[in-house]
Amino acid sequence: MRPFAASPNASAPAEDFANDVEYYLGLEPRQLPSRYLYDPLGSVLFDAIGELPWYGITRAEVGLLEQYGRDILAHAALFPGFPGVPGPSRIVELGPGNGTKLLTLLKTRHDGSAEAGHYGRREARASRLKVHLIDVSGKALDVAGRALDELGDIEVERHETTYESGLSEVAGKPPAGGRTLVLFLGSNIGNFDRPGAEEFLCTIRAALQPGDTLLLGADLVKPEADLLLAYDDPLGVTAAFNLNLLVRINRELGGDFDLQAFAHQAVWNAAASRVEMHLVSRRRQRVRVASARIDMEMEKGETIWTESSYKYQPEELATLLGHTGFRPIERWVAAEARFALTLARAD
Ligand code: TRP
Repeated sequence: MRPFAASPNASAPAEDFANDVEYYLGLEPRQLPSRYLYDPLGSVLFDAIGELPWYGITRAEVGLLEQYGRDILAHAALFPGFPGVPGPSRIVELGPGNGTKLLTLLKTRHDGSAEAGHYGRREARASRLKVHLIDVSGKALDVAGRALDELGDIEVERHETTYESGLSEVAGKPPAGGRTLVLFLGSNIGNFDRPGAEEFLCTIRAALQPGDTLLLGADLVKPEADLLLAYDDPLGVTAAFNLNLLVRINRELGGDFDLQAFAHQAVWNAAASRVEMHLVSRRRQRVRVASARIDMEMEKGETIWTESSYKYQPEELATLLGHTGFRPIERWVAAEARFALTLARAD
């Protein structure tokens, strides 16, 4: 069984959570799907991770969006006035977090608007861009939605659901004559294993029309010491983020995880090109989770694997996109942080 494959059920959210916890904790090695890290506290802790001096991904990405946002929007051809774009267009973001990245991108619409041409302020106003935010966290959707409301000329639709079902909702109503730009930013793609990443890019492609675009963020391979600091920071914020998953299970599923008896651990697996996040049992112990029908013994040193963050070589990204129905148009790399944004067009 491949880690973090799609969950085998499709019922109510609370039941999904219980079924997933039962299923994944029963695997060998024990696991928990990382999407459950993002409860209200988890979302706030992840925002804090983005502010840490050791986690360069968020800062590097916002920097690239500030610098190249205008080029990205021009390539995406979202605004009327572009040849072949007579209708309204939209942006779909998978996992918007607190909305900062999309806000940064959209603010570049007005950069140098004196010579703005095809996608200047006037046209943008007239077209009223639609934004779809897809996230399992209602809290993230609220925060991101409110941040975007600040722009005043954007219509925001929230989809509180998984990426897959959000994409199929969006695919069901394509804009008449307009274009779609999908944003899949941060190290999101890195949280899939390689076959899973390929499969998921195919899912995105299936929701798009030829000519639509995808902006893909990906963290690049870098020295091990930098990776370990990014995923196990000296302030313990990342540890709190990871351990909060056990707090959530205790609260929502009647678990009795002893928080003192687990430690956060980040390991660089060079052969697989991924950072693995674990929760390590500090002693031999018994854990029960009533709603998930779990009653288990854990050995000292035994781990629960909560997330992998795969790191890429720049040329691998082009290959991956090429295999999944996209043609890379341009790539921007933050040299110091070793982070890449790739823009690709759906063939
Ligand atoms: N998507 C983030 C990443 O891979 C998630 C993340 C950052 C994370 N730090 C973590 C997940 C610690 C679990 C534990 O960069």
